[in-house]
Parts: sequence; structure tokens; C-alpha cells
Amino acid sequence: MDWFVVAFLKASLTWLTCGVTLGVAIAAHPAWTAYYPAHTHMNLLGFVAMMIYGIAYHVIPRFVGRPLYSRRLAAYQWWASNAGLALLVVGFVLRPGGHPGATPVLVSGGVLAAFGAYGFAFNIWRTIAQAPLRRSSPRTVKLPIATDL
Ligand code: HEM
Ligand code: HEM
Repeated sequence: MDWFVVAFLKASLTWLTCGVTLGVAIAAHPAWTAYYPAHTHMNLLGFVAMMIYGIAYHVIPRFVGRPLYSRRLAAYQWWASNAGLALLVVGFVLRPGGHPGATPVLVSGGVLAAFGAYGFAFNIWRTIAQAPLRRSSPRTVKLPIATDL
């Protein structure tokens, strides 16, 4: 497995751990509801998106039978997505207190995380686009029947 696939999966599990912990903390301490955007983004952009990034980088090249368009872009994307989300979370935590640095931190994290997503979309798009397409179904498709299962 490519190192960045493992790194995305580990990042996903780490964000899940942090995200659900903050969720429990918010549930237990209603005043912390102000921090719920940090919770949602650790879970959705952290756990869910990083898991999809990692699995897609491993599986899609195998589905299409071609190498990933750019392994270097995938590695840069890991850094952009994770550094971006870390800044986003810091910004979401600073914002309710009215900290003057909150919005710049939030915006820079958001831009980095967005570039990570654009890099992923581009890399997977190019990987799919260069794959040979089968335009019609072969005539001799053997469909599974109950006795084969
Ligand atoms: C042990 C696990 C979790 C706990 C204890 C938890 C707890 C919470 C709490 C207390 C809120 C704030 C509700 C409010 O007062 O507005 C919340 C919001 C939210 N959580 Fe979680 N959560 C957990 C896991 C997750 C996961 C795994 C996801 C996504 C994959 C998720 C997505 C969300 C979203 C999207 C919101 C915002 C909902 C809205 O906009 O009203 N949570 N969660
Ligand atoms: C570059 C990536 C992203 C940026 C910069 C971003 C930014 C934001 C911001 C600024 C808000 C408003 C928070 C507030 O109420 O103060 C928000 C809300 C929300 N975003 Fe994102 N987001 C990103 C990606 C995503 C993704 C990928 C998902 C889901 C898979 C998501 C789900 C949500 C949800 C459910 C809300 C409403 C609940 C909340 O306020 O936390 N976001 N986002």
C-alpha cells in the first residue's frame, strides 16, 4: 500500500477519535455547543473525507486498471488536507470567543482544505479519464445464478 493511503486512513481514525471526544464533551457541557462546527468538521472533513480519500486512492486505480495519475499530488494533498483541517478546527474554536485571529485562521485553513479537495478531485478525475472504456457489454457475460452462490 502507498504510504499516503495508510496516512489518510490513520488521519481519518485520529480525526474520528478527536471528533467524537469533542461531541461527548459538548453533550456533557452544553455551554460548549458553540464549538460544534469543530466537532462536525473533525467528523465530516476529518473522519469521513479522509477515509474516502485514502480508500479511493487505493481502490480506484485498481478498478480502472491504471496507475494513479499523480502519487506526488496525493502526497501534497495529504499535507494540505490535514494542515488545512487543523487550522479550520483552531479557527472554529477561537471564533466564539471573538478572538481577532479566528477569521484569518479559519479562512487559511479553509483555503488549504479546499485545495486538498481540488487536488483529490483532479487526481482521481485524471486517473479515471485515462482509463480505457468498454463501450458495450461483452456478449459472453456469465451472470451468477443461484447455484453459483
Ligand atoms: C460519540 C459520538 C458523537 C457524539 C457524542 C456527538 C455529539 C454531538 C453534539 C452534542 C452535537 C451538538 C448538537 C447541538 O447542540 O446543536 C453534535 C452535532 C453534530 N454532529 Fe455529532 N456526535 C458524535 C458523532 C458524530 C459523527 C461521527 C458525525 C459525522 C460523521 C457527527 C456529526 C454531527 C453534525 C453534522 C452535527 C451538527 C448538526 C447540526 O447542524 O445540527 N457527529 N454532535
Ligand atoms: C474546505 C472545506 C470546508 C470548509 C472551509 C467549510 C466551512 C464551513 C463553515 C465556515 C461553516 C459554518 C460554520 C458555522 O456555523 O459557524 C460550515 C458548516 C457546515 N459544514 Fe463545512 N466546510 C468544509 C467542508 C465540509 C464538508 C466536506 C462537509 C461534509 C461532508 C461539511 C459539512 C458542514 C455542515 C454539516 C455544516 C453545518 C453544521 C456546522 O455549522 O458545523 N463541510 N462549513
